[in-house]
Amino acid sequence: MSQSKKFAILALMVIVGLGAAAQKIKKVPAPYTSPASGKDMYVNHCAACHGAEAKGDGPAATALKTSPTDLTTLAKKNGGKFPANHVYSSIVGDLNVPAHGTPDMPMWGNVYSGMSKGRHAEVQQRVSNLTSYIESLQVQ
Ligand code: HEC
Repeated sequence: MSQSKKFAILALMVIVGLGAAAQKIKKVPAPYTSPASGKDMYVNHCAACHGAEAKGDGPAATALKTSPTDLTTLAKKNGGKFPANHVYSSIVGDLNVPAHGTPDMPMWGNVYSGMSKGRHAEVQQRVSNLTSYIESLQVQ
């Protein structure tokens, strides 16, 4: 199997939002978005679970075993300091958090590696733009 084929399969991890009636998770390929826009990545890849406003209330949230984190209070819960490194690692999938690397919280490092055809610098750009976007959503 070629590398790109393998990555394409790994990218089949995004969960689409669903109507309240259908509490089933459907996996679709993560749509391509520009690495330059943290917001576009967030809206297309994260909002189904974490919610359009990142409050942990996306349409797919109720179908998950673990509730998606409210991403707007990360700084508040960390003494007012946004935990950028922690967020970065959570997105990549480096952290040894039980729900990570499961269908409930995909390892986006793999997905983005596929989307950026293995270009490491571009994957880093994606994750850091996403991290900055999440930082911009912090409540006081
Ligand atoms: C399939 C649903 C789902 C999708 C899609 C998803 N997440 Fe998550 N996310 C979760 C769940 C569930 C948790 C909670 C994990 C836990 O508590 O162990 C989580 C946790 C996190 C955390 C850790 C927060 C903390 O308190 O440590 C971050 C950061 C995060 N997600 C960012 C993202 C970003 C950015 C995206 C899009 C690229 C994304 N997530 C897509 C379900 C999802």
